[in-house]
Amino acid sequence: MRGWIPGRSTEDRRDRPLTTDRSSEARNAPLPATRPGVNDVRRLKVVTWLLCLVPFFWLAWRIFDDGLGANPIEELIHWAGRSALVLLLGALAVTPVRRITGFNRLILIRRLVGLFAFSYACLHLLLYAVVDQGLAWSFILEDVAERRYITAGFSAFLALVPLAITSTKGWIRRLGKRWARLHRLVYLAGALAVLHFYWRVKADTLWPLVSAAVLLTLLLPRVWWAYRKRKARRATA
Ligand code: HEM
Repeated sequence: MRGWIPGRSTEDRRDRPLTTDRSSEARNAPLPATRPGVNDVRRLKVVTWLLCLVPFFWLAWRIFDDGLGANPIEELIHWAGRSALVLLLGALAVTPVRRITGFNRLILIRRLVGLFAFSYACLHLLLYAVVDQGLAWSFILEDVAERRYITAGFSAFLALVPLAITSTKGWIRRLGKRWARLHRLVYLAGALAVLHFYWRVKADTLWPLVSAAVLLTLLLPRVWWAYRKRKARRATA
């Protein structure tokens, strides 16, 4: 079979530059390191991992610097909540940035950023329910039912759960067109998380308002693109 070399996978064969040189030297020549682009994608993923772990580096520094201050549990809940919100906005930024810059490879890290946002939200919830509330379910349920900022936070978390579960390639294949429709829940999760933050802080609303402005900036282009798409569809219908 042409080009087949024992012990080399289809992958290898595909990476081998096509040649008519049938000499054994040519067939045994070392393979090019990796396909152009594979390294770029790997680099992009490594950078994304590092950026998504920045909150942990920051936390380590804070613990080293002042031990998280007088109320470390509250500081930890805030840290995890803010990290979840920043990364959720980061995941929402991928599509507009990709469309505006044409840097299509960004799509390869959207799931990673989304899963990191969900992981920080899980940590946030665990810190609150386990460390802060000591799993006192009656208090937690009372909080969720009566404190509107916690109701909003809980609703944001519930909206993130199906997104995290269906983030695998298998679910994308299984759900087909419904996947994109289901994943519009991320807009609701973003809005509820910002509302949760805004209602939580009461007085100093600067950062919740900044988050709301960022969220709006990320959602408005989508509304515009959807409007244009619908208009174009009507024009051709
Ligand atoms: C089950 C869901 C959630 C619960 C029970 C919850 C609970 C809380 C609590 C108790 C606080 C205030 C802590 C304090 O000041 O004592 C808080 C703050 C916060 N939470 Fe949540 N939260 C939830 C979900 C989320 C989600 C999904 C996000 C973001 C994606 C989020 C982002 C935040 C932010 C940004 C803050 C404010 C931190 C600050 O003031 O510095 N939370 N949350």
